Parts: sequence; structure tokens; C-alpha cells
Amino acid sequence: MNNEAVRKEIENRKIKKITEAEIMTKVHEIGHSIALETKKTLSKNLRAALGHGGIEHAIGFCNLNAMPLIDSLNRVFDAEIRRVTLKARNPDDLPDPVEKKILEAYAYQWQDSVPLSSNVQPVDENYLFTKPILIDNALCLSCHGVLGEGLTEATNGIIKSKYPADRATGYRIGDFRGMWSILLSKKKVVQAM
Ligand code: HEC
Repeated sequence: MNNEAVRKEIENRKIKKITEAEIMTKVHEIGHSIALETKKTLSKNLRAALGHGGIEHAIGFCNLNAMPLIDSLNRVFDAEIRRVTLKARNPDDLPDPVEKKILEAYAYQWQDSVPLSSNVQPVDENYLFTKPILIDNALCLSCHGVLGEGLTEATNGIIKSKYPADRATGYRIGDFRGMWSILLSKKKVVQAM
């Protein structure tokens, strides 16, 4: 190799040598944007459904599975995008053991009025990004609120008939509801850098 080739080779290696910290930062970045985009779409769908057919019609729209956006994000980042909670409406949204620990930590912090922040941790060959979900909007209360306050008997009846094991009511504004759980493949994250 001549000098120029050697210089280029060293340069290339430097470029490719990405540190763990840099990957974690990228995971935060991707995780935040996925959570934000998904939340926006979810909220848009919910509001549109409420406008079209009221609460009863909208009940089917607080669900990630109905969103084409999720499919495409899952494909791009080889991701697994979920919302999990300790008090589930849909039992599919109950946490796995890793998620459960993080949820419990968030719940504990929330009780102590510690501000909650997002978190990234390695899980096998992947990274798990989590971000707390709070009841931050009066809209949520019509299906997750306290019975007789935000939540009417009628709505509660419809919800309980679809979700007999529902535990996701009784919330007030500011309550800790659950978290985004976004598992990203390390390979895809590095490719995106
Ligand atoms: C029109 C009724 C309705 C409204 C309004 C609503 N939700 Fe839901 N929510 C549901 C239903 C139904 C499910 C279960 C969806 C499923 O089967 O996947 C659910 C599930 C969830 C879940 C997943 C965890 C679980 O318990 O299954 C979270 C988190 C959540 N809602 C948060 C919110 C937040 C935050 C708001 C306000 C922005 C909100 N919801 C507004 C009806 C609603």
C-alpha cells in the first residue's frame, strides 16, 4: 500500500469505529421519533373516529395493530413497537419480565414525583428503548377515566363487554399509564448511522 492508501484505510476504520455510546444516542433518537410519530397518528385516528361515530366507534382506534405506520416502521428498523402497562385493557399489552422491571421502576418514580425519562438498554443483539406514557389529555379520560367522572357507565359497559379483564380505568390527568417499548435491532441502528 502506498501512503495515500494507508491514510485512507486508517480514515475508513476511524469512520466505521462507532462507539457504544454513539449507538445508544442513535437508539434514543430513533426511539423518540418512532414514539412521537406513532402517538401523533394514534391521536389523529382516535379524534377522526370520535368525529365519525362517537366513543363506541372510536374504541377500536386506541390500538397499534390497526396502523399501517407500525408495519412500515417495523420493517425499516427490524423493530418491535409496543405499548405495555401494569394495568392492561388488552392482555397482549402486559409486559415481559424485562419490561415489567422498567415499568415498576417508572411507577415507583412517578409515585415519588420524580420526573420520568426515556431509557435505553441492550437486550441480546438489540436495544430496548422505553418512554413513559402519561394520561396527558382529557380525551383519554372518556375511555380510561374514573367511572362517573370522565368515563360514563355506557362507555364502561361497552369496554367491559369487549375486554372483560379490563384494568385500564380510574385514571386522572397526569397519571402514569404505561410505556412505549421499542425494540430495535443493533444492526439496523448501526446501518442508519
Ligand atoms: C375511545 C376510547 C379510548 C380513548 C379515547 C383512549 N383509549 Fe387507550 N385504549 C382504548 C382501548 C379499547 C384499548 C385497548 C386496545 C387494544 O385492544 O389493543 C386501549 C389501550 C391503551 C393502551 C395500551 C395498554 C392497554 O391497557 O392495553 C394505552 C397505553 C392507552 N390506551 C393509552 C391511552 C391514552 C394515553 C389516551 C389518551 C391520549 C387513550 N388511551 C385514549 C380505548 C381508548
